[in-house]
Amino acid sequence: MARKGPEDERAPQLLRWYDVNRRVLPWRALPGETPDPYRVWLSEIMLQQTTVQAVKGYFEAFIARWPTVRSLAAAPLDDVLRAWAGLGYYARARNLHACANEVVARFSGRFPEDEAELRSLPGIGAYTAAAIAAIAFGGRHAAVDGNVERVISRIHAIETPLPDSKPEIRARAQALVPERRAGDFAQALMDLGATICTPRSPNCPICPWSEECRGRIAGLAPSLPRKKAKRRVPVRRGTAFWIERQDGAVLLRRRAEKGLLGGMMEVPSTPWGEAFGDAEQEAPLAARWRRLAGRVEHTFTHFHLELEVWRADDIADGALRDEGDYRWVRPEDLAGEALPTVMRKVVAHALGGEPEPKQARGGNKLVSRLG
Ligand code: ADE
Repeated sequence: MARKGPEDERAPQLLRWYDVNRRVLPWRALPGETPDPYRVWLSEIMLQQTTVQAVKGYFEAFIARWPTVRSLAAAPLDDVLRAWAGLGYYARARNLHACANEVVARFSGRFPEDEAELRSLPGIGAYTAAAIAAIAFGGRHAAVDGNVERVISRIHAIETPLPDSKPEIRARAQALVPERRAGDFAQALMDLGATICTPRSPNCPICPWSEECRGRIAGLAPSLPRKKAKRRVPVRRGTAFWIERQDGAVLLRRRAEKGLLGGMMEVPSTPWGEAFGDAEQEAPLAARWRRLAGRVEHTFTHFHLELEVWRADDIADGALRDEGDYRWVRPEDLAGEALPTVMRKVVAHALGGEPEPKQARGGNKLVSRLG
């Protein structure tokens, strides 16, 4: 029998498992290929708060359209925002474009290898810098996200709740990173967390780290990591107005440049406050309004939003009550508009269909609740 693996056996064990079980993902270099930092960066930005499944199609569309960081930097911001629509968190798309421009301007179009230089770029935080430094350049960095926190908490049976356990988890993760193949190690940990060491029912019998997993041995694995009780996020409420012209076109409005979802398109809506207001008073035009059954719900980072949707049909041009940046859009063109996820839910709700499938580590539940 092979000797039980001490700590420094862990990386080779995981890499052997990865060599057989790695997920084939569109941004991953195949064995023997040199990773393309642009693809690594683009995927990591897209994967912030969004699932692998949701990202695949967007990643391939971006690469087909903008195959290099220079081509992305040269694209009009509006094109990038439109192509991003549906991935959520629009600040990420703006930062993506700003980052591409900085890489061109400050680094002649080549991503820096140094973690601190990566962190100085828009949209690249500690996790993303570590992931790029490791995956694209083989640097000995631990990329610790929620999945990795789970795996590390379990193998060491760390019972201190998050976030207090973060320093210990980070140190333990860093200690595991091997000299060679740091990028594969980072991706192997991600794959282990995504496919075996899953949140509710980890598949311990097929885990390469099962034998030495202290969480499993103690019977604690599924309950780790522990988390401090969450504060409740406040709820905001508002009304969205679905307005159809006689020819079927739908009225959209561009949001103010500053603030949440800045510059994105929306189904015209009231400000979001504590209570639903008087919809007919607050609507952008006078009409025969009717409220659609159910509500649209969306959770942003700092609050939960509930929207009622009111509808008016057969509207003629020119009846608007304010000077907002309005535009009529044909229904078949809605998909190409830079509508944030919450507004796509409103569209789906108004059209009586299912919201787009997707999401999300960031907790954006897709809800279009009827009743
Ligand atoms: N999650 C974050 N980055 C990832 C990657 N490179 N591969 C798979 N899942 C990820």
